[in-house]
Amino acid sequence: MKGVVVVGTQWGDEGKGKVTDFLAEQADVVVRFQGGNNAGHTIVFDGEKYALHLIPSGIFREDAINILANGMVINPKAALEELKMLQQGGITNFQLAISDRAHVVMPYHIEMDALLEDIKSPEKKVGTTKKGIGPTYTDKYSRMGIRVCDFVNKTVFYDKLKDHVAFYNTVFQAFGKESFDVQKIYEEYCDYAEALKPYVTDTGLLLNKAFEDNKKVLFEGAQGALLCIDHGTYPYVTSSSPTAASVPLNTGVSPQYITDVIGVTKAYSTRVGSGYFATEFDDDIAHQIREVGHEYGTTTGRPRRIGWLDTVVLRHTKRVSGLTGLSVMLLDVLTGIDTLHICTEYELDGQHIDYIPASIDDFSRCKPIYISVSGWKEDITKTTLFSDLPDNAQHYLNVISELVGVPIVMFSVGPDRTQTVVLEDIMK
Ligand code: GDP
Ligand code: IMO
Ligand code: MG
Repeated sequence: MKGVVVVGTQWGDEGKGKVTDFLAEQADVVVRFQGGNNAGHTIVFDGEKYALHLIPSGIFREDAINILANGMVINPKAALEELKMLQQGGITNFQLAISDRAHVVMPYHIEMDALLEDIKSPEKKVGTTKKGIGPTYTDKYSRMGIRVCDFVNKTVFYDKLKDHVAFYNTVFQAFGKESFDVQKIYEEYCDYAEALKPYVTDTGLLLNKAFEDNKKVLFEGAQGALLCIDHGTYPYVTSSSPTAASVPLNTGVSPQYITDVIGVTKAYSTRVGSGYFATEFDDDIAHQIREVGHEYGTTTGRPRRIGWLDTVVLRHTKRVSGLTGLSVMLLDVLTGIDTLHICTEYELDGQHIDYIPASIDDFSRCKPIYISVSGWKEDITKTTLFSDLPDNAQHYLNVISELVGVPIVMFSVGPDRTQTVVLEDIMK
């Protein structure tokens, strides 16, 4: 039995999709447990590149059951478009299950996401992906959400939909926005419900059975711990918890089933959207990293902000999520940079600190304290063993592992599935 969680340790886009797809070869079940199509997970193999937003990254492994669990918010139209994209790419032999307890993203949630951003002053905008994630989770917690089990029942769906539309239209009218038409949405979305119905089930039961049957389960996080609604850089966060701690709640299994937590980190840092980011820099080297690493959002196409690796962030994630292993990604992107900087601590008002302050004002005054190490010039994109890496690249990985206090179990030297080096076989 294995319960392996793949989590983002930074601000998302660390390479979780690549790691999940890679480990899924040995998994019986692959589970997305939070977020929605705000996520963009890239998988590259056999010369093809896929961007997944809702569907778990185990979908390319025919033997694995892929689950969209109860903690997710699912845009049915986007889910069907993604399935179509996969089918057009020849990915037709897959197993998919959607939780009857997951919440449904409706078009007025997307409009509300945009409205909530529009009414904020520039410095207060979160820079959301505008996929309706926040408003859908808001409805969930105010107990007015539409769950998948409601969505596939025409009578219940209509009843909830008419209340929603009446409520949202009042708000939209007050802000001079267009109203939504209940009947139009109902007809369109009933078709989506019919198309998704065959996949809908109690995924908690399915997962518990898998664990009882001694299966290997892989949980795929979206976003990153610093975007966590509880432990992230609030309010510049998403509306769910992308930590391993949220897995039991968001999937309906016991915490005791979790055996490993793999923290996925870039060899540097990126962030897309607003909010302070202590190690951010914007010079020729940042430009080089952005272009070599193709650091543009998978979901929105926005350029990602670039920073040096921040081990205060990684130790924060280790505390709030638990990490048993690190997977260091995009190491190849640092090739050719003479000196690499790693943040070890922050200075806040003259004091050295090793935590992320809760107050965003305090966090914004944190100055990174760096150590510097020498870079390497050799092409590392064909590396298959740790010992093949140039000495300085080996040293860089060793320093990260020591500073975070977590062993490196994998590292990655290119986007392709084959450009992955395993130090410890976690799924065995
Ligand atoms: P996720 O959201 O955590 O799944 O990450 P994204 O897919 O949004 O962003 C990671 C990007 O880095 C994608 O374009 C990947 O194809 C790419 N990538 C992943 N690992 C590597 C690597 O080791 N080297 C390079 N050059 N690109 C990588
Ligand atoms: P993956 O899974 C990077 C960011 C947005 C914004 C904030 C809130 O690909 O790593 P939201 O739409 O969730 O309300 O936006 O969170 N964000 C991400 N950044 N990767 C992601 O997902 C993200 N999902 C949300 O840019 O700053
Ligand atoms: Mg991404």
